[in-house]
Amino acid sequence: MKILITGIDGQLGRELIKKKDKNFDLIGLNKTDFNLLDQKDCEQKIFDIKPDWIINAAAFTQVDIAEEKTELAYLINSNAVEFLAKTVSVYRGRLLHISTDFVFNGNKKAPYFVNDKCAPLNVYGSSKLKGEKLSLKYPGTLILRTSWLYSNFGENFYTKIFNLHKNYNKQSKPIKIINDQFGSPTTVDSLADACWKLIIAASNKKDIQKIFHWSNSGVISWYQFAKAIGEVSEEIGLINKAAPIIPIRSYQYPSNIIRPKYSALDCNSTCEYIDLDQIKWQDALKYKLIQKSILDS
Ligand SMILES: NC(=O)c1ccc[n+]([C@@H]2O[C@H](COP(=O)([O-])OP(=O)(O)OC[C@H]3O[C@@H](n4cnc5c(N)ncnc54)[C@H](OP(=O)(O)O)[C@@H]3O)[C@@H](O)[C@H]2O)c1
Repeated sequence: MKILITGIDGQLGRELIKKKDKNFDLIGLNKTDFNLLDQKDCEQKIFDIKPDWIINAAAFTQVDIAEEKTELAYLINSNAVEFLAKTVSVYRGRLLHISTDFVFNGNKKAPYFVNDKCAPLNVYGSSKLKGEKLSLKYPGTLILRTSWLYSNFGENFYTKIFNLHKNYNKQSKPIKIINDQFGSPTTVDSLADACWKLIIAASNKKDIQKIFHWSNSGVISWYQFAKAIGEVSEEIGLINKAAPIIPIRSYQYPSNIIRPKYSALDCNSTCEYIDLDQIKWQDALKYKLIQKSILDS
């Protein structure tokens, strides 16, 4: 099977390339080679390559900047996603599009099911939800929602907090982290595995299910996650001592955006569909930090 992956310089894109199954013929393109804002060029490339599947790992992911660059967020996260679905559908190719827990408003107190009502609270979530809806008009589209994605690459909550732990000293400012927003951290490794398993499963089944959820298992707050990053780093000898962390409420953290208070995803139907178990967030975190210690040594 021929697979085109967009956004290969991002967290997920990189991991998808690393974890590729040897039976797939992979074409990975970054923003320079395949810019979703240049639809004419992308269309030409899609028709030249004719991939069986496109995995869309490209997105406008800066949640706070999306509030100001609204038009750009919608162009990349909505219009371009419909364009990909429509273009591959011409020759019965298929799209696996990655979406987010931020399509939900967070009022639920239990993990969200794939068919639960969506009601995003910010531009990023709204633009991603619109991308889902527009692309699902084409029957070959699958949506895989994930949450709190992290890797050892680039800047994400996990890398930022790790550096705060590592560089903490008596002169450092106290580290204050929100303790009233809950979700499931997810490593890119776990998500990439699910993407590949989903492509294999969906290629062999008559689809009924179109929307899927995938995360590591367990539900925690950002504060609990930040604390665990320090504790595990100390345990495996990546840092000498974890920094103290102060739990705060969302209203104490200055921000121009509203985030869901609870956005854990129920992944049971996906586990069954792709025949894969979720990894506990604690195990995934330890594995990621061990990988980091190898990369840094
Ligand atoms: N990160 C999270 O916590 C999280 C949570 C839930 C869901 N998700 C979803 O998971 C998917 C993967 O996220 P990620 O964390 O891997 O994202 P990421 O690291 O931000 O990577 C996204 C990639 O898309 C590229 N891109 C941006 N605009 C583009 C355009 N016009 N044309 C082509 N490429 C473009 C980016 O390039 P530049 O960096 O050069 O702009 C970047 O390489 C996304 O769909 C995201 O919405 C992420």
